[in-house]
Amino acid sequence: MRTLEWDYATNELRMIDQRRLPGSLEIVTLHTHTEVAEAIRNMTVRGAPAIGAAAAFGLALAAQESNARDVAALFSDLETAAETMKSARPTAVNLAWAVDRVLKSVSVRLSASVSVDELSSSVLAEAQRIADEDVEVNKRMAAHGAMLINDGDTIIHHCNTGALAVVDWGTALGVIRLAHEQGKRVHVLVDETRPRLQGARLTAWELSQYGIPYEIITDGMAGHFLRTGQVQKVLFGADRIAANGDVANKIGTYMLALAAHDNNIPVYSVAPTSTIDLSLAHGGLIPIEKRDPGEVLDIEFQGERVTPQGAKARNPAFDITPARLISAIITENGIAYPPFEINLRKVVES
Ligand code: MRU
Repeated sequence: MRTLEWDYATNELRMIDQRRLPGSLEIVTLHTHTEVAEAIRNMTVRGAPAIGAAAAFGLALAAQESNARDVAALFSDLETAAETMKSARPTAVNLAWAVDRVLKSVSVRLSASVSVDELSSSVLAEAQRIADEDVEVNKRMAAHGAMLINDGDTIIHHCNTGALAVVDWGTALGVIRLAHEQGKRVHVLVDETRPRLQGARLTAWELSQYGIPYEIITDGMAGHFLRTGQVQKVLFGADRIAANGDVANKIGTYMLALAAHDNNIPVYSVAPTSTIDLSLAHGGLIPIEKRDPGEVLDIEFQGERVTPQGAKARNPAFDITPARLISAIITENGIAYPPFEINLRKVVES
């Protein structure tokens, strides 16, 4: 199945519970928009495009939940639900992008003589369009990106950017997947991606499914492999890209890009244009989510708790990689190279 799907028989949202992988593949069923917001917050569903699509379907649930008797009241309920969705996680702009797209598509129908039921159906229809387009956009990104991958490349990959991070296929991992399908021999060094281990748990699981050779490395090992000439490319996704090309992505991306840049290894960020936020001039303006310190502290090694009782921790979920460290940004509309101030706008508007 896709990472998330609307069940048209029961009018519920079904999604893979990403907290349980790779131990078990469990599907959860969500009935209300507040359940969807919670699933985004607690990372049952995660990855920028996936949480955008989830939030769009969350609005379809909100429309079903509404007792409104006229379209204006329904729209007001949707606006309230939209705020709940948007506040679930702040960094990935795809969340607000998808919610605003649904609201806009519905608002243009308000003046026409539509019924409450018709308006409600149009919310679901737009959410479904966002989900379907996401798959198509991923495949287009992969086609552009795979041209940059050479036979025999070893690639460091950060976080999880595969089918699980989107509706289906993947961004950076989608590029690697297509290159593999094209017959190129690729080897992936999978950053484990502390603290939530999206690399070790989810990317490794996906690569096993696709039959792509990989080895897991701890995040701190990346510099060693880059410096000793064992890596040809670094690939990751993005949660938000500012107008100047600064990239917000999973914590640890900045140090990875720095080490790659120091060793003249190309660094590619793969993201749909819905991740590009031209309203923000630079990455310093991107809000960085701070998560529970327990994600850093509550870990075990060889059956024992690692950290002393009472230890404190910091847990920013994302960092900003300055545009100067990025070789190119791969989108569904083509590959943007520096100067990003000019070329990102071109790919967004093309
Ligand atoms: O906290 P997460 O797991 O939602 O973070 C995900 C990432 O940082 C991905 O790299 C990003 O969403 C782009 S992949 C589609």
